[in-house]
Amino acid sequence: MESFLIKGGVPLHGEVTISGSKNAALPIMAATLLTEEPCVIRHVPDLSDTRFMVQILASLGATVSFEDGTLRVEARKISDYADYDLVRKMRGSVCIMGPLLGRLKKARVSLPGGCIIGARPINLHLKGFAALGAKIEITGGYISATADVLTGNSLFLGGRAGPTVLGTANIMMAATLARGVTVIESAACEPEVVDLATFLNAMGAKITGAGSPTITITGVEKLHGAEHEVIPDRIEAATFLIAAGATQGEVTLRGARAEHLRAVIDKLGEAGVGVERQGANLVARGLGALKPADITTLPYSGFPTDVQAQMMSLLALAPGTSIITERIFESRFMHVSELARLGAEIEIEGPSAIVKGGKPLSGAPVMASDLRASAALVIAGLAATGETQVNRIYHLDRGYEKMDAKLRQLGARICRVEE
Ligand code: EPU
Repeated sequence: MESFLIKGGVPLHGEVTISGSKNAALPIMAATLLTEEPCVIRHVPDLSDTRFMVQILASLGATVSFEDGTLRVEARKISDYADYDLVRKMRGSVCIMGPLLGRLKKARVSLPGGCIIGARPINLHLKGFAALGAKIEITGGYISATADVLTGNSLFLGGRAGPTVLGTANIMMAATLARGVTVIESAACEPEVVDLATFLNAMGAKITGAGSPTITITGVEKLHGAEHEVIPDRIEAATFLIAAGATQGEVTLRGARAEHLRAVIDKLGEAGVGVERQGANLVARGLGALKPADITTLPYSGFPTDVQAQMMSLLALAPGTSIITERIFESRFMHVSELARLGAEIEIEGPSAIVKGGKPLSGAPVMASDLRASAALVIAGLAATGETQVNRIYHLDRGYEKMDAKLRQLGARICRVEE
């Protein structure tokens, strides 16, 4: 297994280009299954998660090539069956269900299981498929969804933590080929949902309202091939903005979209990190002393759960008390005990982490537990004195394209080593 070795204490300076969004790319890749015609998707990040999705598409019978960020898929004839061994590797693989059900009117997909950040149920996805007329059965760890015809319906997709991102994507994809009109209420408003709707509309779907809580899909007979460019990754961008602030550096992000990052930029300002738009770029700058801030993760356009861990590293450096409340995933605080190994003082009280910031951080070996927790440990290591070894960075490679190379380009002393 590989680790990052980081010699901290160097302010980051320079320019970095933001990759395509992982969480937009995954459902868009799945959506190519909705047509037998060729699709071309550009700006796809080269990550282990996108490579898993390539394997899943190929295992379903599609012809797939992925080179230099361009994915070409031709799903002329596909099967309805996705095996446990493929699906268990990535929770995001659940978004193949909607396209399979839409196109074949049947899908048999292994239940994805939970993960370290929480239970991650899919009851809302299944509720949505059932509302379109699918019969759902769960046997032997597999979900089977079948329908003679899918029929548009009006459905409420909100759950205990609000809307569901991949649930909205799944129902939207299935409904493109249903008979009649589907209205999703309490739909997720994330930019990744909007990007998927843009691609589906380019394929001939009739979707309006994506980006708002009410999405209307008028079913069509058939979808055709299309080309699309994936939006920039707002979570990668947020991670670099925070790394710039944590090291008191100045970093220009090429291709990051300020309009997708409003909540993050607002909280960074409160914490003493300036972010300004310069043409198509964003520039982040440490403004001197960091300040505490209180944060609650919420569905878009609130503060993203996928940036909670990285923000905790920044606030651990800010003298004073910050309260971080996690409202989306129940156990997304695995980074807390690892940050403590670097000297951070953080207590967990129910869904909140109380960060008593400003304690000096010093390098230590730490263990990455999930994707965003890994990024948080890298940020803390960059700001700490001495050497930090972040172990198990395969988690990080799932969602950050060439993070070590990008950080080196900004002057960080970071290298990849065998554990
Ligand atoms: N939920 C349910 N029932 C469902 C589905 C979700 O109760 O059927 C609950 C979840 O347990 C959670 C909340 O609803 O409490 C929101 O989960 P959501 O379904 O929105 O999460 P997701 O679609 O499975 C995507 C991202 C995650 C990101 C979340 C929230 C992808 C591939 N994954 O997951 O990204 O944290 O939305 O924004 O798009 C990451 O990139 O590190 C990551 C985990």
